[in-house]
Amino acid sequence: MTARSSLTVVLAAGEGTRMRSSLPKVLHPVASQSLLAHVLNAAAAADGSSLAVVIGPDHEAVAAEARRIRPDAQVFVQHERLGTAHAVLAAREALARGADDLLVVFGDTPLITAETFARMRAPLRQGAALAVLGFQAADPTGYGRLVVENGKLVAIREHADASTDERKITLCNAGVMAFDGGCALAIIEKIGNNNAKGEYYLTDAVSVVRDLGLEAVVIETSEDEVRGINTKAQLAEAEAVMQARLRKAALDAGVTLIAPDTVYLAADTTFGRDVTIEPFVVIGPGVSIADGAVIHAFSHIVEAKIGKKVSVGPYARIRPGTSLGDGARIGNFVETKAAVLEAGVKVNHLSYVGDAHIGANSNLGAGTITCNYDGFSKHKTLIGEGAFIGTNSSLVAPIKIGNGAYIGSGSVITKDVPDDALAVERNQQTIREGGAKRYREIKMKAKEKKGK
Ligand code: UD1
Ligand code: MG
Repeated sequence: MTARSSLTVVLAAGEGTRMRSSLPKVLHPVASQSLLAHVLNAAAAADGSSLAVVIGPDHEAVAAEARRIRPDAQVFVQHERLGTAHAVLAAREALARGADDLLVVFGDTPLITAETFARMRAPLRQGAALAVLGFQAADPTGYGRLVVENGKLVAIREHADASTDERKITLCNAGVMAFDGGCALAIIEKIGNNNAKGEYYLTDAVSVVRDLGLEAVVIETSEDEVRGINTKAQLAEAEAVMQARLRKAALDAGVTLIAPDTVYLAADTTFGRDVTIEPFVVIGPGVSIADGAVIHAFSHIVEAKIGKKVSVGPYARIRPGTSLGDGARIGNFVETKAAVLEAGVKVNHLSYVGDAHIGANSNLGAGTITCNYDGFSKHKTLIGEGAFIGTNSSLVAPIKIGNGAYIGSGSVITKDVPDDALAVERNQQTIREGGAKRYREIKMKAKEKKGK
């Protein structure tokens, strides 16, 4: 059997005013990824899928995000906000091109999964014209109610239009619908706006389908999967659900999480085998952690590549553009940024390594600082292989330190150091025999005199 083609229309024309933010609602992040990206990625898993995104006017940032995630997505603007059916018709051009299945999903439901999209398409193969995703709502207020008679979906009644009896129904419309592509456009075009809000409700597709003598069915899912985000509180709830999913997926994949509830992952975090993550670690976007790496407690990692058997932290900050080679060791209170540390490099304590390339097996002592910024621009620090940087050294970039070079502790290095050279930059030490004893005596006498 050949796979059925599908078109997914994502409705993202909402302003999201209740978020009280200048950022469009669907660009808010859950697990370091926009709400829109989550929905697009879930939709992308469908076979033979094409994508259309409907955005509001002046939402170029939403269009850009859609294209970043799915360069093939077609973006349509709904110029007036006249309801969900009207929004789908903004993508008429894509609908007219035709697909076996048409899926409509809201851009603010980031927890929806690819499996659910697949489940919704199944009844279409058995002849249904429409499948609606439903859930048992803990509090159905505000949702469209699914009116089911003799096991068949006969209508969706919006809260504002529902009778007292209909409002008692707890089976609600999640907002995802799957249409048989052959009749979808004809059905949606028949929808009117004769209701309490005077909007074109996509939910009225159910009664249109019934009037045509066709079949509409309900596919049920959990409330957690279809939480729509309208407020920052709901955004935080969705984050909690998503983090729970990501932690479970990591554990199932063999990652050791000692205290899973304290570890924050991103939707795109990848792990090798036998990775251990200690408590209170935060991982942002674009992080890969290879086999056998250990991330110690209280570390923060963003856009970085962690090699095999690397040790990070405790209390390390790994910033964007960091690549840690196999077996590298990053210790406590170390910050790295735009830094490539080759295999076996050690930076064990209290250092800043930014805009740098460190050759294999070099050792940066405690308090080594790459002075990368002169207040105007950033400069590079290049350190060769097997170099030894003594503690409390400042490496003033641009600077190049050769293979096997040795920097004496406390040096401020401003000139390049050749291979295998020893560079020390500090004043001659002076020794005064008995000086400490004499100093103490003078001070004690002065104190006694004052006390009298
Ligand atoms: C909608 C459903 C309701 C369901 C609920 C689930 C309709 C008529 N009602 O109600 O049955 O229980 O979602 O959360 O569909 N949008 C546009 N253009 C418009 C209107 C809406 O793009 O003109 C988009 C919004 O950005 C949003 C989605 O469609 O992503 C839903 O719109 P919203 O106003 O939130 O509908 P609800 O009243 O929540
Ligand atoms: Mg809504």
